[in-house]
Amino acid sequence: MHSDTSLEPRRPEDIESRKLEHLLLTLEGGVEGPHTTWLEYVILIHNALPELSLDDVDTSIEFLKYKLSMPLIISGMTGGTSESKTVNEKIGELAQKFRVGVGVGSQRAMLLKRSSSVIETYAVVRKKAPEVPVIANIGAAQIKDLKVEELEFLVDSIGADILAIHLNPAQELVQVNGDKDLKGVEERIAEIVDRISVPVMIKEVGCGLSREVVFRLRRLGVKIFDVAGAGGTNWIAIEIIRGVKRGKVVGRELREWGIPTAAAVVEARNGAPDACIIAGGGVRTGLDIARAIALGADLVSMARPILVALMNSQADIYLRELVEVLKYAMLLTGARNIRELRRVPIVVTGPLNEWIKQRGLTIIK
Ligand SMILES: Cc1cc2nc3c(=O)[nH]c(=O)nc-3n(C[C@H](O)[C@H](O)[C@H](O)COP(=O)(O)O)c2cc1C
Repeated sequence: MHSDTSLEPRRPEDIESRKLEHLLLTLEGGVEGPHTTWLEYVILIHNALPELSLDDVDTSIEFLKYKLSMPLIISGMTGGTSESKTVNEKIGELAQKFRVGVGVGSQRAMLLKRSSSVIETYAVVRKKAPEVPVIANIGAAQIKDLKVEELEFLVDSIGADILAIHLNPAQELVQVNGDKDLKGVEERIAEIVDRISVPVMIKEVGCGLSREVVFRLRRLGVKIFDVAGAGGTNWIAIEIIRGVKRGKVVGRELREWGIPTAAAVVEARNGAPDACIIAGGGVRTGLDIARAIALGADLVSMARPILVALMNSQADIYLRELVEVLKYAMLLTGARNIRELRRVPIVVTGPLNEWIKQRGLTIIK
């Protein structure tokens, strides 16, 4: 998830070492918070008389042409290095086994070095996961200089169904030598949406999407948004750690920047009532998934916890527990399926309630 300015080295090996540094840093502590997602302010109303058996509860959904076992996408994280190929292989296997969507990390390395070995570090996801949606990935800073044909190449060469473009302005500002010229992105997105052969997803990386931004992008034809709000992996915090190592940090205060994930879901749904809204950023449990969907999301996405679980050989257990607890929450609200979960009554409390009122938003089910 990196962009470079002319000040920054552009050799592929530099990109590779930064991606690896990111991967390793996210596995350490201190890269989440200080925000929470605010999903804890979404209260599902307990139904003491659900008249359902756990076996009746169906967590599956249709997404594009695929049937997923639960409304989950493993967010784009990695690719470009030999280490990340191994990680992507495992992520692909997991996605296929549990029938959930899956993304790859920024494909910038593929543009700099079009060797089959670099492509393979991303393409391995589709190879391992033939029956789930695969999402290609590139940053806002890169699309400014890319032809639509080059983006098609990123999608085609890894067998992806969707192209995700990540917006990460706060990260760019705090990042040593990040891209400080954030102009021209909207115009490029308009052209890409118009000409590329696959749906475009717009995602943040941990600061959330607002109603206004989603509204502007929906008008351009974007139909899929991952809000990636604050409360999970904090990329400002990660860039601060990288900056400290290099003796250069400006913007420590921005560690608390961003729209908490729950607020971003409501913002996005109000900006584009008919779009596919994915709740990403800090989603960690089956209960989080249930709350996000009852609040108005269609699916959720998760990045860091999946990586951590994979590294600890706990990924199967983690995903099984996720779906099990999602089922419990559904049964306890009397929701037989995800469509019914979207419609269950909720109470919104605390700062989330305040946010919704002050911003003039409504909870659209
Ligand atoms: C190790 C790692 C690498 C990531 N790299 C990318 C990337 O290349 N492109 C991108 O769009 N998002 C990237 N992300 C952001 C995630 O896709 C996600 O939006 C964000 O981490 C919030 O989700 P989480 O709190 O579940 O981790 C990365 C996240 C992690 C943990």
